Amino acid sequence: MSAGVHTVAVIGAGKIGELMLSGLLRSGWPVDRLLATARRPARAEELTARYGVRVVDNLTAVDEAAVLAVSVKPQDAAALLDEIGPKVPADKLVISLCAGLPTSFFNRRLPDGTPVVRVMTNTPALVDEAMTAISAGAYATGAHLALAEEMFKPLGQTIRVPESQQDAVTALSGSGPAYFYLLVEAMIDAGILLGLPRQVAHELIVQTAIGSAVMLRDSGEHPVKLREAVTSPAGTTISAIRELEKHGVRAALLAALEAARDRARELAAQAD
Ligand SMILES: NC(=O)c1ccc[n+]([C@@H]2O[C@H](COP(=O)([O-])OP(=O)(O)OC[C@H]3O[C@@H](n4cnc5c(N)ncnc54)[C@H](OP(=O)(O)O)[C@@H]3O)[C@@H](O)[C@H]2O)c1
Repeated sequence: MSAGVHTVAVIGAGKIGELMLSGLLRSGWPVDRLLATARRPARAEELTARYGVRVVDNLTAVDEAAVLAVSVKPQDAAALLDEIGPKVPADKLVISLCAGLPTSFFNRRLPDGTPVVRVMTNTPALVDEAMTAISAGAYATGAHLALAEEMFKPLGQTIRVPESQQDAVTALSGSGPAYFYLLVEAMIDAGILLGLPRQVAHELIVQTAIGSAVMLRDSGEHPVKLREAVTSPAGTTISAIRELEKHGVRAALLAALEAARDRARELAAQAD
C-alpha cells in the first residue's frame, strides 16, 4: 500500500475527521481519492462545499475505499460497526482515531484478520503541528503502520508506540492542547489582574508560549535547565514558582493526566 494511490474514507467526519481530510488535501492527496461520511445532510453539504470531497453513505465508503478512517465519538463506534462491520472485507485497512477504544474492540466487530491501526492525533493538526501516535493492532503489518504514518506525517510529527501506551498518549497529547490553552487563559487573566489591557496581556503570553515551545523543541535542553535559566537567585521568577508549588500545580497536573487516562478507559468500557 502506498500513499495517494488508495482511496481513504473518513467515516464520521466531525472535528477530527475534518482535520484529517484537510491535512491530506494540503499534503497533495488527490480529492478523488478521498471520501467522507456524515450523519447529518447539513454536515455532508458543508464538507463538500469546503473541500470538494464526495460524501457518501457508510456502506458505499466501505465498498469504494481501501482505507477506512473511523473518526466517530467512542460511544458511537459500536453502532457504526454494527452497520458496517460485517460488510468490511478483511483486506481493508481500518484506522481508528477514537480515543480509548482498543483495536480489539474493532477486531471483535470486523471479519477475522482485518488490520486495524490505532491513531491518536491532536487539534494542532490544523496548523500542521499535530502530535500523532500510531499503534498496530493484532493483524496490522509494518506496511499498514507505514501507510498510516504517511497519512499523518504532513499534519505534524508522528511516533510509534505500543498500543498499551495509547490511553496515556490520549491523556498527554490528545487532550494536551486544552491544558496549554487553560494555562494561557489563566495567565492572561493574571495580566489583567496586574492592570494590563487584555489585548496586551494576550500578545505577551501567546508570544511567550510560542517562544518557549520553540526553545523546548529546538534547544535540545531539558525543561528544568530552560526554567533555571529564567530563575535568578532571589529574583521575580522564584517568587512566582514558590506560589505555583504552594498551590500544587505540579500535583494537579499529575492528577489531571491520570484522570484523563482513566476517562479514556471508562469511555472504552462504556462503548463496549
Ligand atoms: N477533538 C479532539 O481534540 C480529539 C483529539 C483526539 C482524538 N479525538 C477522537 O476523535 C473522535 C472524533 O471526535 P470529534 O471531536 O471529531 O467528534 P465529532 O466532532 O462529534 O465528530 C464525530 C462525527 O461523526 C459523526 N457520526 C457519528 N456516528 C456516525 C455514523 N454512524 N455514521 C456517520 N457519521 C457518524 C457525527 O455526526 P453528528 O454531527 O450527527 O454527531 C460527527 O459529525 C473521537 O473518537 C475522539 O475520541 C478527538
